[in-house]
Amino acid sequence: MRIAVAGTGYVGLSLAVLLAQRNEVVAVDVVPSKVEALSRWESPIADAEIESWLAEAAAGERELSLAATLDGAAAYRDAELVVIATPTNYDPDRNFFDTRYVEQVVELVLGVNPSAVMVVKSTVPVGYAEELCARYPEGRFLFSPEFLREGRALHDNLHPSRVIVGVPRSSAFAGELEGAARAFAGLLVEGADAAERERENADGTRGIPVLVMGSTEAEAVKLFANTYLALRVSFFNELDTYAATRGLDAAEVIRGVCLEPRIGSHYNNPSFGYGGYCLPKDTKQLLANFDRVPQSLIRAIVEANRVRKDFVADEVVDRVMSLVYAGVEAPVVGVHRLTMKTGSDNFRASSVQGIMRRVRARGVPVVVYEPTLDAPDFYGAEVIRDLAEFKSRCDLIIANRWDDELADVGDKVYTRDLFRRD
Ligand SMILES: NC(=O)c1ccc[n+]([C@@H]2O[C@H](COP(=O)([O-])OP(=O)(O)OC[C@H]3O[C@@H](n4cnc5c(N)ncnc54)[C@H](O)[C@@H]3O)[C@@H](O)[C@H]2O)c1
Repeated sequence: MRIAVAGTGYVGLSLAVLLAQRNEVVAVDVVPSKVEALSRWESPIADAEIESWLAEAAAGERELSLAATLDGAAAYRDAELVVIATPTNYDPDRNFFDTRYVEQVVELVLGVNPSAVMVVKSTVPVGYAEELCARYPEGRFLFSPEFLREGRALHDNLHPSRVIVGVPRSSAFAGELEGAARAFAGLLVEGADAAERERENADGTRGIPVLVMGSTEAEAVKLFANTYLALRVSFFNELDTYAATRGLDAAEVIRGVCLEPRIGSHYNNPSFGYGGYCLPKDTKQLLANFDRVPQSLIRAIVEANRVRKDFVADEVVDRVMSLVYAGVEAPVVGVHRLTMKTGSDNFRASSVQGIMRRVRARGVPVVVYEPTLDAPDFYGAEVIRDLAEFKSRCDLIIANRWDDELADVGDKVYTRDLFRRD
């Protein structure tokens, strides 16, 4: 099948590579450097599997039918299927996702190839695909939620937890789209690791679970799933806040709580707050979707992150004050890495930035160690790329995630990474 993928970020590129095993794929982006990198079989994002698959394709050791272009119109004109994976940033003024980049692609596709099926992979507000059908009745839209994690994007699409495709009920093409939804799910399943098609699931079923449902339900799945993850992070963070305030050993409490099989000993490591590109914006979007629907929990999940960051910032400032009382003149706080996760290459909305802002607002000098950032400062805080210099200049180092490279200055480090894992 001829497929065009709009957007070569984590979502678009991992899908483009996955689908290029058995289909002719053209990846479209608006950033020339990304298209140029891909044309040289280099990944514009850090992702171990994508990087090695592209290198193997370049060496002729792996067959991938993948081209990259800035010319969206040409790519969409020839495609039977267009996968849309452009950004949907949260717009705090409108209190909603900004879906304009999705619509830019939709309008371009409708202009050159109105019968193409468009699968929206970007995360969108609940009800969005039905709105697209009302606004562009000639368009054939599907929505398929994406569950990958950054840094493991291709891995997660090779080993998907589930494949979900939503069909807008109001579409004039709803019947035809039901078949297209199953066909698209089939493309994702056939692109996955062969062993996944035979795997046994916890509920006794075999293979990758495929669900075809209404697009509004599918959109809700994505936002409720991410909000549940944010709830879990917030729960263990709040447990940690309680333990730290009352002088309890948080790790002991968490171990004891999580041995309950219905809770489980995973995804329970305290942090400075949930962060990254998706959880902060997706929880806010779900709260906005609850307009005139009774709730208290969803708002609490959004607010819990602010409360946690306030607490962590207070803890940091308390430690700074202790240093002052101990005779250190103007102690310097160092932020070790701006990234959200170990191994990640980007720091969109990472929680440590919230701590950094709060600490600086209290007049404490802050410097940053972030080797991937090629800039002299970050929001006014000096960036130091030399680790030894960073360690010697800082009186206190804050790290959302522990890194063994800090072992020799462990007594200076403030972290809530109790289990030393993501
Ligand atoms: N990053 C994740 O872990 C993740 C997981 C699930 C869902 N999502 C959702 O998927 C969407 C994309 O996320 P991402 O992390 O891949 O974003 P990204 O910012 O990494 O990549 C998006 C790409 O789209 C390109 N783009 C922008 N406008 C375009 C246009 N008109 N035509 C073609 N390309 C265009 C950008 O240049 C960029 O390269 C978002 O809605 C996000 O919420 C992301």
